[in-house]
Amino acid sequence: CGIVGYVGGQSALDVVIAGLKRLEYRGYDSAGVAVLSDGGLAAAKKAGKLVNLEKELVDRPLSSGSTGIGHTRWATHGGPTDANAHPHLDNAGRVAVVHNGIIENFAVLRAELADRGHRLTSETDTEVVAHLLAEEFSSVGDLAEAMRLVCRRLDGAFTLVAVHADQPDVVVGARRNSPLVVGVGEGENFLASDVSAFIAHTRSAVELGQDQVVELTREAVTVTDFDGAPAEVRAFHVDWDASAAEKGGYASFMLKEIAEQPKAVADTLLGRIDAEGRLRLDEVRIPDAVLREADKIVIIACGTAFHAGLIAKYAIEHWTRIPCEVELASEFRYRDPILGQRTLVIAISQSGETMDTLMALRHAREQGAKVLAVCNTNGATIPRESDAVLYTHAGPEVAVASTKAFLTQLVACYLLALYLGQVRGTQWGDEIHAVVRELARIADEVERVLETMEPVRALARSLADKDTVLFLGRHVGYPVALEGALKLKELAYMHAEGFAAGELKHGPIALIEHDLPVVVVVPSPRGRSVLHDKIVSNIQEIRARGARTIVIAEEGDEAVVPYADHLIRIPATPTLLQPLVSAVPLQVFACELATARGNEVDQPRNLAKSVTVE
Ligand code: G6P
Repeated sequence: CGIVGYVGGQSALDVVIAGLKRLEYRGYDSAGVAVLSDGGLAAAKKAGKLVNLEKELVDRPLSSGSTGIGHTRWATHGGPTDANAHPHLDNAGRVAVVHNGIIENFAVLRAELADRGHRLTSETDTEVVAHLLAEEFSSVGDLAEAMRLVCRRLDGAFTLVAVHADQPDVVVGARRNSPLVVGVGEGENFLASDVSAFIAHTRSAVELGQDQVVELTREAVTVTDFDGAPAEVRAFHVDWDASAAEKGGYASFMLKEIAEQPKAVADTLLGRIDAEGRLRLDEVRIPDAVLREADKIVIIACGTAFHAGLIAKYAIEHWTRIPCEVELASEFRYRDPILGQRTLVIAISQSGETMDTLMALRHAREQGAKVLAVCNTNGATIPRESDAVLYTHAGPEVAVASTKAFLTQLVACYLLALYLGQVRGTQWGDEIHAVVRELARIADEVERVLETMEPVRALARSLADKDTVLFLGRHVGYPVALEGALKLKELAYMHAEGFAAGELKHGPIALIEHDLPVVVVVPSPRGRSVLHDKIVSNIQEIRARGARTIVIAEEGDEAVVPYADHLIRIPATPTLLQPLVSAVPLQVFACELATARGNEVDQPRNLAKSVTVE
């Protein structure tokens, strides 16, 4: 969910709505606002996207004040209805609260409140907080203190932001696990789930820590722990350009972000390879001795970042000879994984806030493992709680389906694998030099792929009425196939599956029927050419059974031509780096197919970009 709070000289309603627009990628099931004015509190909320709320505000305007809060929701407890939308108010309508996360003991608290005569009207866990705050406020007369008292009684993960009509120039926030940042202005202050909500107003930000409560007035930001003791916070400057979070002439953020990939890749490489071709990853502040001693690497991630991890495994094991496992973060800690001081855990996360990944990394650190984050968001929780971080420099990614962040995660993982190889003195010295040279050219290759995408778009449009698309790959092409399928599920709501091409004959080949589109990611015919020959056979096997083959193959690969109903060419690259170019047509394909089906690509149904619940 996305949260905004504001106190200052501008119209709170305008600032809050503009902030919510920036945060809508975090959830868009429903939205709401509350503002304080003339000694009262006024609220509006609406199921559906933010535009529904904006329409409601045109039909029934709220009197504008200078203190307000807002929320855009990704439903957990209770469906996306008007009643379940945030903010939630107490029975007297004096306090309003918005929330991100899950309050695990809400059923007990709810029963207690009902016993004390409170009427609860929604199905959410959040509503109990409004009622508890109202009770505590009536005895202590101060919202920040009331918030501290309430937080001590809550279990689970939460960010809460609240206002009270009796303290009209105050906004109070609380944070446990879910993100919350303060934007510090002049005569005005902001609270938000992430900085994009306020970068149009201020670049000066303060990161809240775990279990802290913040009180904002126009002039002051006061942070304490849940017991009221002053707390330490970290101030930082936001260097993201406000225009980076605008569509800039593209029809969607996704199209813009796909187009930005050459720059994102180049920025992520920048300054990390010196003139002699040696890796310079100074930010990896884990002593070389520890890296040399590591006897196992475990990668944890979710969604698209997990696919980046699967690809990274091939590179890490090949260049470093350290065994590497890749695990879905949501599964990791619950299976009692074997970790020790010589385990290096790599947590990959664009947002740096994904709760599954955060919980997995905490578990890893508790077991003594060192954790290195690969992250795109400065100051997010995952890098903060890791031993070191390698930032991807993709810039803000707004579209829910990840594209440029994925490519930069791959780049960061390659750099890391090469660096580990360098530190440990691997036998692959020459190959590493060759790969480093190729990496320097890769942004241009991605650009070249983007320039040749028109046939891919036409093909995607022609397949808009299909029900199923399958994706096949071998070696690093296998995770690329998984990612191609995920993109299509996310965006086009189609049945799409990725398989290891060699596994086809063990089951999935039964799915092949007349005219079924099957996308095949073909490895380079050079180098590991056995792989290439095997996949050419696989293409023939599916074609013989009626599949319509869509073949992604290197320029100059003539062996595939007779068996490709559609051929998508990509530049020749070393096998391990091929995902950087082969993933791009799959992104374009999914985006265009979804658009042809009338779907909104930036905000696919049921999804959210940053999932801060487990
Ligand atoms: C959500 C998004 C995915 C993303 C995943 C991991 O599920 O919808 O696009 O890949 O989270 O996000 P992260 O921020 O940890 O990379």
